[in-house]
Amino acid sequence: MIVLAALAVVVPHAGAVGAAEPAEAVADAGADPAASRPIYRFWGAGYGNAHFYTLDHAEAQNLHRTDGWWAYEGTDFRVWPLGANGCASGTDPVHRFWSPGFTSHFYTMDAAEADRVRHDDNWAYEGVRFCALSAPAHGAVEVHRFWSSEYNKHFYTANASEAQNLRSNDPDWSYEGVAMYAPASGADSPPVTGDPAARLGCQSPEMSAAVASHDAGKIMRLFGGAGVLRDAIANGRASCVPLRDPALPWVMVNKRYSVSPAGYVPPSLTVPSGSLVGGGLRGDAIGSYEQMQHDVSASGAGRIALTSGYRSYLTQEQIHRSQVSRLGLEQGERLAARPGHSEHQLGLAADVVACGASGCGSMYAFAGTAQERWVRENSWRYGWIVRYESGRTGTTGYNPEPWHLRYIGTDLARVYHDGGYRTLEDFFGLPAAPEYL
Ligand code: DAL
Ligand code: ZN
Repeated sequence: MIVLAALAVVVPHAGAVGAAEPAEAVADAGADPAASRPIYRFWGAGYGNAHFYTLDHAEAQNLHRTDGWWAYEGTDFRVWPLGANGCASGTDPVHRFWSPGFTSHFYTMDAAEADRVRHDDNWAYEGVRFCALSAPAHGAVEVHRFWSSEYNKHFYTANASEAQNLRSNDPDWSYEGVAMYAPASGADSPPVTGDPAARLGCQSPEMSAAVASHDAGKIMRLFGGAGVLRDAIANGRASCVPLRDPALPWVMVNKRYSVSPAGYVPPSLTVPSGSLVGGGLRGDAIGSYEQMQHDVSASGAGRIALTSGYRSYLTQEQIHRSQVSRLGLEQGERLAARPGHSEHQLGLAADVVACGASGCGSMYAFAGTAQERWVRENSWRYGWIVRYESGRTGTTGYNPEPWHLRYIGTDLARVYHDGGYRTLEDFFGLPAAPEYL
């Protein structure tokens, strides 16, 4: 995700937009309502509740028929097409911007605002796309502008009851005032026709069922694979995909994100053969762990054993307390998570040690062994990543732990490996989590 701090610079909220004078007759006869046409409106549920508006019929038709990330919602407010010589006399330009970080468009008639946003790296200026009235006029309706800091999106509508409903009932949207004025009548826009493209990502009707049933494989398939899912999450197009559902293998737990619910206990735990402790691993992770454990030995690198798998909230509390009293708060917390913040509570984390003829070493002796090297190079093939790598303390909040492996599933682990990622935070485009919030 893009840093939220940028929003303060990028998105102007100060005061209402548009003019505030009382409505009066259009002074300039150039603003001919008969030449205005209703704009096509699309909803991008797969883009985290984005909306997109275009007057270009070919573009609207193409989006509707071929792009399953966008759903056609019908027409909305009227605007004038941009002529060869710009906006017709009596009408003013509407500037359009696109932000890849916020995955949203932004429209403004306010030239000073457009100028400010043009100088902001987060936004790409797409030019003037259509024309409208920047001041009230007889027979003109208000086009209302909203901003959501929840979704990082703007929304525009001329539908007074829709605007009123958002203002009264939806705390996710804040009203920013009148963005432009539009004629109430005029010409028609050619209809958008044909079958819509198959819904993708969050728009798929099957998606909510897959999310409700915690079906990771199905969620991934509906997105079109692990790589598409990762891209969609990192680019803010997967608002329906829970990152904190502990049942899903990609669940995010770090110093910012706690295990939720705090008392989560995995439904099934199995202790791998040869383990030094009883903690065990979750049903979705145990098979691939045992295969990996077997393959390390078969490769000739030596044996590994699990020294810590599942840890309950209470066990983590004891470990955290003991490390903090041993090392002090700062260093202790670079080693042990606070209770409710450990991946071990998920049953998806495995601390492994290297074993030889004389027994097994400790976690702290794992670095530099043949087993450690093998695990670093190969664990992704089994769905496991080394979660706390050296040089990444600023992102993870932990000192390097070459022994701490985290299961995220084989498909995602392959994408993680192939993409050269070093932290799960970067992989999903999430903020660094060096400290507790
Ligand atoms: N050692 C890791 C960070 C934990 O306590 O979960
Ligand atoms: Zn660990």
